[in-house]
Amino acid sequence: MKVLVIGATGNLGIRVIPALLSHNLAVIAFVRSSSKLSSLLPSSIFDQITVVEGDAMSADSIKSAILDHGCDAIINTAGLAAMMPWKSSDLPAIVTAVVRAATEAGQMRQNPLRVWFLGGLGLMDIPGTKSMIVSYLPVYREHLKDIALLKTIPSKVIRWSILCPSYMNPRSTELIVPVKGGTSAGLAASATVPPHWKDFWFRRVPVLGPFIVVLANASQYTTTLEDNAEFIANDLAVGSDEWVCKKVGVWDAAQSKA
Ligand SMILES: NC(=O)c1ccc[n+]([C@@H]2O[C@H](COP(=O)([O-])OP(=O)(O)OC[C@H]3O[C@@H](n4cnc5c(N)ncnc54)[C@H](OP(=O)(O)O)[C@@H]3O)[C@@H](O)[C@H]2O)c1
Repeated sequence: MKVLVIGATGNLGIRVIPALLSHNLAVIAFVRSSSKLSSLLPSSIFDQITVVEGDAMSADSIKSAILDHGCDAIINTAGLAAMMPWKSSDLPAIVTAVVRAATEAGQMRQNPLRVWFLGGLGLMDIPGTKSMIVSYLPVYREHLKDIALLKTIPSKVIRWSILCPSYMNPRSTELIVPVKGGTSAGLAASATVPPHWKDFWFRRVPVLGPFIVVLANASQYTTTLEDNAEFIANDLAVGSDEWVCKKVGVWDAAQSKA
C-alpha cells in the first residue's frame, strides 16, 4: 500500500512516516518544503520515502500526487485547528481540498481511497447523550466543519475515518524509529464515544452537571504522538473496515497499568 502523508513536517506527520515504514507501507510525503522535511528526519528514513512539494489547500496538487504515485491511502495531518472559537485557521480549507482530491482521484481509479483525518476529542459524543463534548468545552470548534463535511461522504466515495485525540505529547524529543511490525497496543480506541469515559451521578444536574463531567474527564485523554502515529499506521497495514466512516476516540492504555 502507498500512503500519501499530507503535512509530513508536523509533530504527528514526522512520527507517522517511520510508523508506516515499520509496517512495510510505502510513504509519499506531501510537504511545503522538502528541505525542511530532510532536516527533521534521519537520512536512513528520508532515503526510504518519496517527497512531493505542494500546498495542501490545492485539491489539484493533492490529486496529482495521488494519481502520479498510485496512492491507495491518505493521512492528513496538515493544518492546525484554532483553539479559540473566535480564531480561524487553514484547516477547514485543507480538509475540503483533501476531500475533493480523494473523491476525484477515487473516481478516476474506480476504487475509493482510504483516508484518515485528524479531529479533536471535542467531536466525540458524551456517552448516554447525543451531545458532542465540544458543546460543553467550546475549544477547537473548527473540527465541527470537518465532521459536518465528512458525514456527507459515503464509504463508496471515500473510506474515511477521523481520529479524535485530546492533547498528543511527544514520548521523546528524539524521533523514535519503531521496530518492524510494531503494535498498536499503546491505545484503547472506540467509535462515536470516547473509550473509558467516567460517569458521575451529578451528570443529571441541569446545565452544570454535564459541564463538570466533561471537565473531570477531559484531562484523562492525553496520549502520545508516537502511539497515535502507530495506531493509524497499524490500521492501514491491517486494512480493516472497523473505523471506516467513524469518528474514533483514543485513550492511553498505559493508564490502566499505572
Ligand atoms: N498536537 C496535538 O496535541 C493535537 C491534538 C488533537 C488534534 N490535533 C490535530 O492533529 C493535526 C496534526 O497536529 P500537529 O501537532 O502535528 O500539527 P503541526 O505540528 O502544527 O503540523 C501541521 C502541519 O501542517 C502543515 N501545513 C499547514 N498548512 C499547510 C499547507 N497549506 N500545505 C501543506 N502543509 C501545510 C505544516 O507544514 P509546514 O511545516 O510547512 O508549516 C505542518 O507540517 C492537526 O490538524 C491538529 O489540529 C493535534
